[in-house]
Amino acid sequence: MNIREWTRNLAITAGTQAQAMRNQGVTRQRKSHQDFVTAADKEIEQLIRRNIQREFPDDLFFGEETGEKDIWLEGKNGVWVVDPIDGTSNYASGLDAWCISIARVTVAGIEVAAIAAPDRGEVYCAEKGGGTRRNETPLDLSSIPPVPVTEALIMTGKGAEITPDQYLSTLRKLFDRGFEYRRYGSGALGIAMVSTGAIQGYIETGMHIWDIAAAHLIVQEARGFCSRFPVNPLTIKPGPPLVVCQPGLEHELM
Ligand code: IPD
Repeated sequence: MNIREWTRNLAITAGTQAQAMRNQGVTRQRKSHQDFVTAADKEIEQLIRRNIQREFPDDLFFGEETGEKDIWLEGKNGVWVVDPIDGTSNYASGLDAWCISIARVTVAGIEVAAIAAPDRGEVYCAEKGGGTRRNETPLDLSSIPPVPVTEALIMTGKGAEITPDQYLSTLRKLFDRGFEYRRYGSGALGIAMVSTGAIQGYIETGMHIWDIAAAHLIVQEARGFCSRFPVNPLTIKPGPPLVVCQPGLEHELM
């Protein structure tokens, strides 16, 4: 089995386990205002970590729930960047927009990615230079006719570090340019959805590498536009504002 299939299978296994845990009942712990962690976030991260350590004993691990200090990639074999449940609030509320996000990063960039959204029956996977698939279907944005700004749907999100005023000012700018917007509550899944052409872009300020790593490669390999998001060092600090979109909309969105 190649590394893409292996990563995809791991995301599916983790997603199935997260669904089973939710069926037993969810308790939330508050991290900050409207920002939660559940027992499943922690257990699923450990499940993913154990599997990676067994298969890739020389690799390192950087997860949302356990990543603590910056990791420089020089001289490292590979580092797995994991968001065990992206969209925790949706997951805990029984909404379907949440996912498991797994990526392997090396000094050369993001190498392989998988995002499983089990309530939606979707698995995205990508390998550098090897294209993107949703379930069994290859995705290629360059083969889809471009959607004009006045019909384009742009998704966005609001992490704990962004103020309501900053968020509202982003929406205002989208409306001023003629876009319509959506908010799903799972950044990783929202970004990945750009690769299907269902929405035309995703923008957000204050995202973290575990929200983005897998989804960034998924859109890039589907030939979408992705603004630069540094991965070296891997850090718990939020990164620069992110713009991901169908080719041609980047000038309006940047
Ligand atoms: C959050 C969600 C949200 C996005 C935030 C993320 P979490 O992740 O993806 O949609 O706007 O930036 O932090 O906390 O549910 O894993």
